[in-house]
Amino acid sequence: MSRTLSAAALGLFAAAAVALSGPAPAVRAAEPGKPLVPTIKEIMREAHSCRTAYIGDVRRELSKPEPDWTVIESRSRDLVRVGKLLALNTPPAGTSESWEKLTTLYVARATVLAEAAGRRDTDEAKLVGQRLGTMCAGCHRAHRR
Ligand code: HEC
Repeated sequence: MSRTLSAAALGLFAAAAVALSGPAPAVRAAEPGKPLVPTIKEIMREAHSCRTAYIGDVRRELSKPEPDWTVIESRSRDLVRVGKLLALNTPPAGTSESWEKLTTLYVARATVLAEAAGRRDTDEAKLVGQRLGTMCAGCHRAHRR
């Protein structure tokens, strides 16, 4: 699809922006190609860490006898969004093929979750929510230093 193209376009845009505005701020200087994309760590903290975790909100609601489907649906859409941003990052370890495969799978599962939530389909939502939640260790093994 157009992923490679748009990533290339983003790089070009960023290069142009850097050329126009001088050096990027210190934090981003090491990666001038991606000033608009949050880092993997930022995404992990927002989506997966205990307190604000989108995935935690989904799990909590799904474990209730009467889940709040609006929470599940909106949090699933957040997971789709951050999954796409993850894909734009470069992991500290592992191959780009593997990263593309895992982030694509992540976005696909989050999308299925959002659709299941839209249909109020508890069984499907639980199944795919579980699959999404068990991706952590595998991806960390492959891509964390
Ligand atoms: C698609 C791959 C992928 C998936 C899926 C994934 N992670 Fe990560 N995660 C990473 C990578 C890569 C890092 C290391 C980032 C770095 O060091 O720059 C990381 C780092 C983290 C961190 C540390 C962040 C920090 O501040 O240093 C936490 C916490 C975390 N992940 C939690 C989770 C949890 C919980 C899940 C599952 C619900 C999960 N991650 C799923 C790739 C993934």
